[in-house]
Amino acid sequence: MKRLEIAIIPGDGIGPEVLNGTRLVLDAVASRAGVEMRYTELLAGGIAIDATGEPLPDATVAACKRSDAVLLGAVGGPRWDTLPGDRRPERALLGLREALGLFANLRPARLYSALSGSSPLHPDISAQGMDILFVRELTGGMYFGERGRRLGPNGPEAFDTECYSVGEIERVARVGFEAAAGRKGRLTSVDKANVLESSRLWRETVIAMSAEYPAVTLDHLYVDNASMQLIRRPFDFDVIVTSNMFGDILSDEAAMITGSIGLLPSASVGQPGTPAMYEPIHGSAPDLAGRDVANPLASILSAAMMLRLSFQMDAEADAVEKAVSRVLDAGYRTADILQGSGSTRIGTQEMSRLVAEHL
Ligand code: IPM
Ligand code: MG
Repeated sequence: MKRLEIAIIPGDGIGPEVLNGTRLVLDAVASRAGVEMRYTELLAGGIAIDATGEPLPDATVAACKRSDAVLLGAVGGPRWDTLPGDRRPERALLGLREALGLFANLRPARLYSALSGSSPLHPDISAQGMDILFVRELTGGMYFGERGRRLGPNGPEAFDTECYSVGEIERVARVGFEAAAGRKGRLTSVDKANVLESSRLWRETVIAMSAEYPAVTLDHLYVDNASMQLIRRPFDFDVIVTSNMFGDILSDEAAMITGSIGLLPSASVGQPGTPAMYEPIHGSAPDLAGRDVANPLASILSAAMMLRLSFQMDAEADAVEKAVSRVLDAGYRTADILQGSGSTRIGTQEMSRLVAEHL
């Protein structure tokens, strides 16, 4: 029997609960597909700080590198919010992205027809749907640039820097072009080229590459305008490629359009042959933790991305995504989704069980 080694990082807050639900679904998939999924639980985030003093123990990185794929819940919480920047739980995420070379973050943002009434957008707009793939650069830019504190002419100051090399832009843009070529053939590159030099290089580089992709229509938006167009005509976008910082912000905006941040999965990928990491884009939601109210769907959909991208189990990935649609169509909702008439509120475990049952 084929054996798949999955590194599991539950992390903090609702992370462990949503991953438990996800494992339920994966176990059902594995038994039908006749593969063995072996999970290795690893420490990272606040729980790792408490246990080892480090947000990202070396043993966790080493085990992730040995795995076929990494599934992560969430990290962070108020208990660790006062720690200095390099000791915070979030360092675990950034450190894993860096250590595994996960330079492209794929964040599909899809508005399910069953949930169009839960979107905060005007019904005339939400009724037209949304199916956007964000391709966010993940190991460069402001997140990883030079930073520090110093004494300036007017007293203490702090700085972060945005720096992109042509190579970094090209490799993530290529992911965007390839994805667009396999979808509706439209790529929107988002930058701030009217102000930032790094954005001007970003735009030049993307334009130069477009010659290689004649079947893809490329356009460009400044990030401020992009944030407006996303709520005005979300149905108009296909693939959006952008920097680390802009992608962080815009993908949360898109998540909200879908009716809840609890629905958006993500895949972080690097060079072929290296393990990719899959995680819901929502955070650890400490206020929801331990109450069986968190939405496991973002995590379950992340696992579907893992099946497709890391294990080439396309049929199984489709089955999980269809099961999620069916459960939503049947009116089941976790508390994060705006409830409509005829919907049934259920908890984390029940939602996970229903998805497994609908496979
Ligand atoms: C995300 C999160 C992270 C990020 C944080 C937790 C470091 O917001 O994955 O979008 O900013 O990348
Ligand atoms: Mg974010």
